[in-house]
Amino acid sequence: MIKRLILSAMACLAIATTFADEGMWLPTHIKERIKDMRKMGFKLKADDIYSADKPSLKDAVVQFGGGCTGEFISDQGLLLTNHHCGYSSIQKLSSVEHDYLTYGYWAKSMEEELPVPGLTVSLLVSMEDVTERLANGENSADIIATATKGEGCQASIESQYYGNQHVLYVYQTYRDVRLVGAPPSSIGKFGGDTDNWMWPRHTGDFSIFRVYAGSDNQPADYSKENIPYHPKRHFKISTKGVQEGDFTMIYGFPGNTQEYVISDAVEYVANVSNPMKIALRTQRLETITEAQAKDPAVRIAYAAKHANIANAWKKWQGESLGLERLGTIEKKQRYEADFAAWAAEKPQYATLLDSMRAAYTNTAKGYFVRELFNESVGAIEAYGIARRLRNAAQEMSEEELQATHKKLLTDYNQQIDRTIATQMLTEFMARMPKEYIPQALTDGIDSRGGIKEYTDSLYNNTKILGTALPDKEQLLADPMLEFEKLFNDIVRKNSAYAYRNISNVPAIEKWYKTYMQALREWDSDRAFYPDANFTLRVAYGTVCGYENVDGEYHTHLSTLDGVIAKENPEIYDYDIPQALRDTYKNKSYGQWSIDKNGKPTVPVCFLASNHTSGGNSGSPVINGKGELVGINFDRTWRSTMSDIEFDPTICRNISVDIRYVLFIVDRIGHAQYLLNELGVN
Ligand code: ARG
Ligand code: GLU
Repeated sequence: MIKRLILSAMACLAIATTFADEGMWLPTHIKERIKDMRKMGFKLKADDIYSADKPSLKDAVVQFGGGCTGEFISDQGLLLTNHHCGYSSIQKLSSVEHDYLTYGYWAKSMEEELPVPGLTVSLLVSMEDVTERLANGENSADIIATATKGEGCQASIESQYYGNQHVLYVYQTYRDVRLVGAPPSSIGKFGGDTDNWMWPRHTGDFSIFRVYAGSDNQPADYSKENIPYHPKRHFKISTKGVQEGDFTMIYGFPGNTQEYVISDAVEYVANVSNPMKIALRTQRLETITEAQAKDPAVRIAYAAKHANIANAWKKWQGESLGLERLGTIEKKQRYEADFAAWAAEKPQYATLLDSMRAAYTNTAKGYFVRELFNESVGAIEAYGIARRLRNAAQEMSEEELQATHKKLLTDYNQQIDRTIATQMLTEFMARMPKEYIPQALTDGIDSRGGIKEYTDSLYNNTKILGTALPDKEQLLADPMLEFEKLFNDIVRKNSAYAYRNISNVPAIEKWYKTYMQALREWDSDRAFYPDANFTLRVAYGTVCGYENVDGEYHTHLSTLDGVIAKENPEIYDYDIPQALRDTYKNKSYGQWSIDKNGKPTVPVCFLASNHTSGGNSGSPVINGKGELVGINFDRTWRSTMSDIEFDPTICRNISVDIRYVLFIVDRIGHAQYLLNELGVN
């Protein structure tokens, strides 16, 4: 049985190595991967990617704004990331008179670069395996305290392989980051939610920032006196483009994968969690979409919210379908049966799977309650506003409180929220295990004669959704704050389940430490990489298309002709700037022109087989020579189960071709200042 399993794994590997590779490796793993990488076309050495004591490509990669990745492209701290990663910064700097979201922004000199209050960029200074130090009794707080001596330094010890390895990460955070360039949203978000997670794709998903430092190159608060940060390394851009089969590597900060979880966890995700979350979000999205269609102001006010809700909603659907198609649950069950047969004779492992299954059984309800609460009551905007106001009332002066209130109501639409509140309370009442439903809520609904009546009375009587906020005393007695308080108990109980995935709840996670050790003994041919957890990773693969459905091959490159074929001024997601139409009409592509079937066009996006996840947005896509050829921004819809099972035949990451980025900077932005700095004019 085991033999057969290994054989089929090898057969898969044999196909896989020709065009794909699963895995998100720690930079320190590269020494073990480099042979494989070189076979696939990588030309540099392991310590070019990561070195503990000399500058390496890792010094050119940053964590951008908390959840994304970015990369330096000049020795003057010029930084690339996605448009969707820079979106909230661009929005913050925009006003009706200066609408950079709609029209884009191109600084013409350093003086015109716009500081973004609150935006930070973190550089990895060092990483060190401290597993032994901890085992020898050193205290983790002491290790962290010693590591964070430098200006703007933070450190954390992250567990890899479910607690089998502990790695100390030291970061330096720069806090003067300025907007340098952004395309109009009609380019940066082209395709919108319609094309999100899809191929073919035609999105110019990039934005440009610059990191500033004090005169000593160290992090500093914003000041006019600050100077551009000099990174130890920056990426050289290649404008030669990519061909199918070319090596590519992604260097970035993926957030969350769970490749080693047992079938019970996959069953929870596929049969319990995803269906609930999808169903509830479908209703919210319908409500918002309908309101947006009626009123252009609402469309704008709810654009970012809609995009956020829809992004995960669409991903979960792809993920569930993918798990189904791959038969992941059954596959894992077979794997576990084989493992159990082997473990039966090993006293330390014999009962392990039983213990794990029992832990899932005991935890599933609590975790579901948390997820259901977040997606239902937690999705009611007025609930969130009430919660924030209650906290703010404790900490803030009357004046600050008023300002907070005003901010909370920016882009808020009461009619939408009221409808969603009725929908979400209906779901909450129907799906929540009885013992978690507050009695006062049941009574309130009964006494008003129904959920809609209850919601209406709540929204009709609250004062927190109007422009004038009542004083603190009245505020605390407001019906919406009373409503918010009803869930205190459930929120408190929830905190015991506040972990990334069900498998990370301590009662379950503790077993995975042993399970990982056992798997390494038993499945000794498998290459184990730790699950993503927002620490720096390297993924590598090749540029390639895939068979989307039987008989339909999706090629690796999209071009401007596809943008033009889709564009339509009547459709919000597919409108483009007139300048782009004109450029197409005149074929004034300059050096960015490529030949496709004998006609000139411009490359836009490309596919590759790198194993990526959320958080890899903005990651540099690197060719065999270590040069930048693109910016990662998405996966195809059929790939999204790769957070649980990676299938090399179908999983593809989507990148914007660096030549499209430069074409837009040049032909649409006319940003000569940037082209000069990049040396590509
Ligand atoms: N799917 C990509 C990611 O997960 C892009 C999301 C932003 N784009 C959008 N249309 N919502 O972040
Ligand atoms: N768009 C995602 C992000 O923001 C990356 C796509 C993915 O999940 O692979 O991180």
